[in-house]
Amino acid sequence: MFHWLEKNPFFFAVGVFLVIAFAGLVEILPNFAEASRPVAGLRPYTVLELAGKEVYKKDNCIACHSQLIRPFKAETDRYGQYSLSGEYAYDRPFLWGSKRTGPDLHRVGNYRTTEWHENHMWDPTSVVPGSIMPAYKHQFTNIADIATAYAEAVTVKNAFHTPYGDDIQPGKKAFEAYKPKVLAEAKKIAAQMKNKDVKDAVAAGKIPEVVALIAYLNSLGTSRYDAKSK
Ligand code: HEC
Repeated sequence: MFHWLEKNPFFFAVGVFLVIAFAGLVEILPNFAEASRPVAGLRPYTVLELAGKEVYKKDNCIACHSQLIRPFKAETDRYGQYSLSGEYAYDRPFLWGSKRTGPDLHRVGNYRTTEWHENHMWDPTSVVPGSIMPAYKHQFTNIADIATAYAEAVTVKNAFHTPYGDDIQPGKKAFEAYKPKVLAEAKKIAAQMKNKDVKDAVAAGKIPEVVALIAYLNSLGTSRYDAKSK
């Protein structure tokens, strides 16, 4: 019935295009049904975690770390449940990475602690003898950019309907009103740390980058959603 098509390169090409375009639509359309995307119980990043994600990008952790566990036994044995696409629903951009000089970090929040990260970021070899990861001492004195992280939360809330509360609103006033919440979250982390400069800074209302970064690292894994309800 379709012999004539095989002998006609032009219409054959059109036919191939239509078939592929249809298959592509079938693949992509479900993603537009927004409600079906995030895994059950997934919460957006807090403002502090967003600031930490900025540090992660700025200090180029992605050069050595992936955040994507593949469905292979060797990986699930080591890191846990393989990554689900719905876990990245609030990641803009996602930080999958493509290089693993160090281990994958997608579930690091499940098995490392604030205390461990503090020692590790200050001097990796102090907790992992022979580690080739660089130290990140500057993060203990650099102050995290909370204003930009807040602006990011406002943007993704308005542009992509990321489910933030009513307290995330545009404007300087709203930011000033929100700031104490970010500081309270930072204080909880600083309380588990021993570095005096960090503790003093947080007590004075400034949040060192390392505190934001640890908040972010602690959120990686199943700590941002209810794994049992999926
Ligand atoms: C030059 C490559 C390199 C860069 C850049 C790098 N790391 Fe690492 N990282 C490693 C290596 C290698 C290890 C394994 C040894 C160790 O634990 O120190 C590691 C381990 C880790 C671990 C422990 C993971 C586990 O499961 O035990 C964490 C957490 C981590 N890195 C976070 C970071 C963060 C955050 C940054 C960015 C600020 C960063 N790394 C940048 C190479 C790197």
